[in-house]
Amino acid sequence: MNSFSSLITCRRSTREFTDEPLSPEQAEAILQAALMAPTSKGASSWQFVVVEDKETLHQLARCKKNGASFLDGCVLAVVVLGDMSQTDVWIEDAAIAAIYMQLQAEDLGLGSCWCQVRGRLMENGYESEQYVRDLLDIPPQFGVLAIIGFGQKEQEHKPVDESDLRWEKVHIGRFNNK
Ligand SMILES: Cc1cc2nc3c(=O)[nH]c(=O)nc-3n(C[C@H](O)[C@H](O)[C@H](O)COP(=O)(O)O)c2cc1C
Repeated sequence: MNSFSSLITCRRSTREFTDEPLSPEQAEAILQAALMAPTSKGASSWQFVVVEDKETLHQLARCKKNGASFLDGCVLAVVVLGDMSQTDVWIEDAAIAAIYMQLQAEDLGLGSCWCQVRGRLMENGYESEQYVRDLLDIPPQFGVLAIIGFGQKEQEHKPVDESDLRWEKVHIGRFNNK
């Protein structure tokens, strides 16, 4: 197990994976992390669709013009949904669960990357969210926030360089206080 600070330093997006599948224990740990994520009013507004079938991963990789093709090479993807009829903060709930899964993956030495779906369009102009709903039989009240792809890293990426941190984004006391 990594310390939390080394975990967040070492987590980088991985878009190239080996063919080695995740073990059932690894997959379970990732989903358990999602289910442990906090939600507004404890409403657990998220749902998750786990995809391992190669053909379905291939179809998911077509969900938008750019930035989804890496899903074709991952061994497991989790489609992160939020119940829009249940809460107005489904996006926040779902996003926290997604990053929990990514951090759990890193802790297991696995790679992952976020594929944004909400608000994106396919090459033909069709909504990416609706395409994913159609493909996976997802009922209409669920927003599709993102798809997180997982797998064994093809290669290690450099950890975050602390000297690159943008401290100018942090404002003390009030915004832009000079
Ligand atoms: C909200 C969000 C949406 C993202 N969407 C995509 C995406 O659609 N495709 C992709 O390849 N990466 C996507 N990423 C990954 C970012 O490109 C990546 O986190 C960023 O470039 C920083 O790199 P790092 O994760 O290696 O630190 C997304 C990340 C976030 C947080």
